[in-house]
Amino acid sequence: MAGERLSPDDPASYSRPSECRICKLDLVWEIDFNKKIINGTVYLDAEKSSASVNRLILDTSMLDIRRVFCKESGTNLQFEVGEHHPIFGSKLEVKLPSDEKLKLTIGIDYSTSPESKALQWLTPEQTAGKRQPYLFSQCQAIHARSVVPCQDTPAVKFPYNAKVTVQKEVIALMSAIQTESSVCRSDSSKKVFSFQQKIPIPSYLIAIVVGDLESRDIGPRSKVWSEKEMVDLAAFEFSETERMLQTAESLLGPYVWQQYDLLVLPPSFPYGGMENPCLTFVTPTLLAGDRSLANVIAHEISHSWTGNLVTNSNHEHFWLNEGHTTFMERKICARLGSGEPLRHLLAMNGWRTLNDYVTRQGSDHLYTKLVPTLIGVDPDDAFSSVPYEKGFALLFYLEGLLGGPKVFEPFLRAYINEFRFRSINSNQWKSFLYSFFHDQVGTLNSVDWDAWFYSPGMPPINPQFDSTLTREVHQLSENWCATGEVDLGQFSPNDLANFSTPQKIEFLNELMLQEPFSTNKISNMERIYNMFSVKNSEIRFRWLRLCLRAEWVDAIPHAFEFINSQGRMKFVRPVYRDLYAWDRTRDQAVQNYREHQHEMHSVTAGLLARDLELS
Ligand code: BES
Ligand code: ZN
Repeated sequence: MAGERLSPDDPASYSRPSECRICKLDLVWEIDFNKKIINGTVYLDAEKSSASVNRLILDTSMLDIRRVFCKESGTNLQFEVGEHHPIFGSKLEVKLPSDEKLKLTIGIDYSTSPESKALQWLTPEQTAGKRQPYLFSQCQAIHARSVVPCQDTPAVKFPYNAKVTVQKEVIALMSAIQTESSVCRSDSSKKVFSFQQKIPIPSYLIAIVVGDLESRDIGPRSKVWSEKEMVDLAAFEFSETERMLQTAESLLGPYVWQQYDLLVLPPSFPYGGMENPCLTFVTPTLLAGDRSLANVIAHEISHSWTGNLVTNSNHEHFWLNEGHTTFMERKICARLGSGEPLRHLLAMNGWRTLNDYVTRQGSDHLYTKLVPTLIGVDPDDAFSSVPYEKGFALLFYLEGLLGGPKVFEPFLRAYINEFRFRSINSNQWKSFLYSFFHDQVGTLNSVDWDAWFYSPGMPPINPQFDSTLTREVHQLSENWCATGEVDLGQFSPNDLANFSTPQKIEFLNELMLQEPFSTNKISNMERIYNMFSVKNSEIRFRWLRLCLRAEWVDAIPHAFEFINSQGRMKFVRPVYRDLYAWDRTRDQAVQNYREHQHEMHSVTAGLLARDLELS
């Protein structure tokens, strides 16, 4: 963990953008499902900061670099690929021609590795339709380097173009606008798709999917894409998209990315959602059938401003992306739903999630700082609810302190205006806060900034949450916990009938904080509430964990079914951990992992191996 920063500005990147900066990317790719590689050329427009700069340093990971050349002259350039680091990959140093000209275009012929951490290649059998193979990428946080040699730091932003050749039975989509699709001129069994992303983006927002995809219109600027087996279900589930976009626009200003499409991925997609510009990627576990998990869409939509327009300059400032986005997500949900009481309920859920993480890691753990120092740290490993929920808590606190939504919402809008198309750190955010609220400097100085930014553990201020929507929920959970073996006659299926999804989540969260139930109590709760039949993945997840904590054997097959049917890390890792913690299921958990690891996403498989103490 100790050691030096790879580069002064970003501890996770070898690049030196202050010497020479990438300002545009042109990708020419061929997708090879047989070899499980992307093969092609990238053209990088680079700008030197002075004529004397004689090198360009790029990030790569497991790439096969065949040739580096100067596009204008066609001459080869000398290059050197450094030693492979398991987290950061290898540095690629290109020797630049000594030239007065500051701008040049560098071409690199290369291919990816079948083990590329950003790419998951699925065989036809692993898809819903079983007809065609499937490829998807997940570049955040630092996996873009395993797809394309680049300055893989969010401090650098660039527009990109791409031409992607695929076999004609599948289609390709990217985090960009599609400009053309045509039959390949040299091979009529292939098609070429062209894309353009005109707005400068960080490398982690490069994304591609290739598969047997269909779409449905869900709004004037939105389609939903998936395999045809789920596309109608998805169109129903995400039908609120346009209203969410409009709500976000009313808060933060115009949506500048033109198209906002959604893609529903295969079950192994490791996240709930990923804000790839023009095309948000989501897990199929959002398909609850009743639109009850649409908050994830509100979240990814919000990233179109917080994250994709104003970007954290490195992963130490990740809360700027996720804290603001979580804050906007809850504003949108509240405006489309039950207003401020709902926002407070969602905030309370978030506070609990944060508390769980801090309790598990210990309140002095580095990763519980809002602004941690991440030298030698794998961002996938440091990933947690902290940037989301401590970030949210700070903004929620400031909003209350400075005069409420009426004054704080204009600040957020001004913040976007000030920093859009740029990458910033926490101090730049704070300076802007001070300049916007220049008539409340005294109030701002009462904030314990040092504790908020750099102290580990829970935030220095405990928020007050409105209890309109939680009173009944807490009453019910208290009744269940009241005595050892309560009188079960008082409960009925109606108890939960009028609860919304966030209220049910709050109910289960509350039970999680109490002593584990007896087998008798938990099995009666199942008998009365029929929880195993619930499709909503957030509820199922919490219910299964409660059952495992109660060491109720009947739940074991349900738990394995849950972790084998989807690969969202937020769900799979805690359930595996619970199974591993219980002697009775420990060996079975390890064996189940061994059986399924080859179908898993490589990042998920890697983190689970650590959780199960296999690596
Ligand atoms: N950008 C994140 C996903 C991510 C973060 C991927 C870091 C890789 C590294 C995305 O916007 C996100 O936060 N997704 C959440 C949604 C939730 C908070 C509503 C998720 O996946 O659960
Ligand atoms: Zn996010």
